[in-house]
Amino acid sequence: MQFTVAIDGPAASGKGTISRALAQEFGLAHLDTGLLYRAVAMKGGDPVAAAQALSPEDLKRADLRSLHAGEAASRVAVLPEVRAALTAFQRTFARRDGGAVLDGRDIGTVICPEAEVKLFVTASPETRARRRWQEAGEGNFAEVLAQVHARDARDTGRADAPLCAATDAVVLDTTDLSIEAAVAQACALVSARLKG
Ligand code: CDP
Repeated sequence: MQFTVAIDGPAASGKGTISRALAQEFGLAHLDTGLLYRAVAMKGGDPVAAAQALSPEDLKRADLRSLHAGEAASRVAVLPEVRAALTAFQRTFARRDGGAVLDGRDIGTVICPEAEVKLFVTASPETRARRRWQEAGEGNFAEVLAQVHARDARDTGRADAPLCAATDAVVLDTTDLSIEAAVAQACALVSARLKG
């Protein structure tokens, strides 16, 4: 069975939590595509060469979830050659037998436009910054908010695969939603598509 759930959205919108919950609930494989960009950035050296030589070991680094890695990832992610080097792996993962959930910025628009379910998860910049600040346990709120704004601008403004909702994506705004409520809405969508 090929069944792809594409989840896109800006930093700290809740897409990672929703993706993991969907994968668990429906027995789908999960790929956090942001980790690929984070690993490329943290590998150092020429980012294009790093993307071309990315290995499973690179994805095991303990510092990939840091605020610094996220910021660095969004800088290498503007490079078309970096994105191109990571495309085939993501496409193959998306169409693997048994189904998959992928979360990122361009899954529903570029990596897998044929995805059976597309979700665009968003929330206000202040809400997202507060979540990121609390989970990171580092930095101060104003700095994290400034980073969120800068990252949004870079991700939506780049020429290649900018962050945007696919025209056929369902938009889920989690600003005033609990995790449970957001996950429940996403589960209902997937469930309906699997039945239909
Ligand atoms: O967890 P968070 O949403 O903060 O970030 P992430 O999903 O780990 O992605 C880090 C950065 O990688 C993003 O700001 C994007 O610039 C880039 N990225 C991308 O361009 N395309 C993807 N499919 C995933 C991430």
